[in-house]
Amino acid sequence: MTTTTGTPQHAPLPLLVLGQGRDLASERGVECPGDLPAPSDPGLVERARAAKAALGDRLFVLGHHYQRDEVIEFADVTGDSFKLAKEAAARPDAEYVVFCGVHFMAESADILTADTQTVVLPDLAAGCSMADMAAIDQVQECWDELAAAGVADVTIPVTYMNSSAAIKAFTGRHGGTICTSSNAATALTWALGEAGEGGKVLFLPDQHLGRNTYARDLGGPLEDCVVWDPHRPMGGLTVEQLRAATMILWRGHCSVHGRFSVEAVEAARREIPDVKVIVHPECRHEVVELADEVGSTEKIIKTIAAAPPGTSWAVGTELNLVKRLAAQFPEQRIVFLEKNVCYCSTMNRIDLPHLVWALESLAVGRVVNPIRVDPDTAHHARVALERMLSLPGETAKD
Ligand code: 13P
Ligand code: SF4
Repeated sequence: MTTTTGTPQHAPLPLLVLGQGRDLASERGVECPGDLPAPSDPGLVERARAAKAALGDRLFVLGHHYQRDEVIEFADVTGDSFKLAKEAAARPDAEYVVFCGVHFMAESADILTADTQTVVLPDLAAGCSMADMAAIDQVQECWDELAAAGVADVTIPVTYMNSSAAIKAFTGRHGGTICTSSNAATALTWALGEAGEGGKVLFLPDQHLGRNTYARDLGGPLEDCVVWDPHRPMGGLTVEQLRAATMILWRGHCSVHGRFSVEAVEAARREIPDVKVIVHPECRHEVVELADEVGSTEKIIKTIAAAPPGTSWAVGTELNLVKRLAAQFPEQRIVFLEKNVCYCSTMNRIDLPHLVWALESLAVGRVVNPIRVDPDTAHHARVALERMLSLPGETAKD
């Protein structure tokens, strides 16, 4: 859609109260059609155990590290988004894969599993605000404008896992790759090599992961990065800026990690002797620059697990994970880096009532909340996902 002034416009996403209404095209706000058990039901844990036992080997439950304790307890495997994608692909015998995470993770699992398997997301309102910051029509428009500027044919898309299946398919169609926070440096090195001398990467949708990976991990100059604003004509950039750039960063961010601040790092260093600061690469560049360690959720866990007793940590990632780390490693001092940051509200949508509802429904043969990516989108998205899985040294940053 274009206005008379030539400004690109996009159909506004309808505002939905979480858990009500339907918007299957977005990462959020889809109603739960079932009668959920009451959260106060004292028998919920027992009911989840019984339903899981009844399903036996037909069921495999994946749990992302940001899930609540009450949900993680029922995961057969826990992991970051890279590990969970690999685990989903490695379970061809499970008829049902229940994904305790967010929508884009469940979509990726559906793409990587066989057609005979069903991926279930216990609450369809478990989306990701970052993934919603790049809509496929915006990305297509961006590509057309890069073509008009004469740079599309030297540009390789690198798309963060936190994106819709449609954007993963776009990436596959244009010779690009998916990456996660644990392999972004490998993916970016590959893409810059593919793009060749004077080539570029269009990094979607997290500007911070793109900038941090290029500048911190690959040692590239920050001046090589420009930010594409999908709400402005030509992304708010000139043809000259586009031609001079190496990294075209989509203007997206995580609403949780974007809130960790330089002031919080400085306060931790002031208040906790010998503290080590460890943050997720979705944090802003100035925060990442001040941290001692940066990595995926899996890397954060492994680093803390390997540290000697008595080590002090200020951790900049989602609160469920930080609280679990503090409980698991009482011999270390583990604090949450930023006082003003709360849980990822969409990750937290998956709670015990939704899990019980999904498992009990499957146990009586009723598939609820299946995640099904259409075959054409799945085909092209799989190309980009499999390119990521085949990259050398994929766990080098773990
Ligand atoms: P990880 O891949 O590091 O688990 O991160 C996923 C995510 O959504 C972080 O916000
Ligand atoms: Fe999305 Fe941020 Fe939540 Fe991760 S923490 S799922 S990027 S909103």
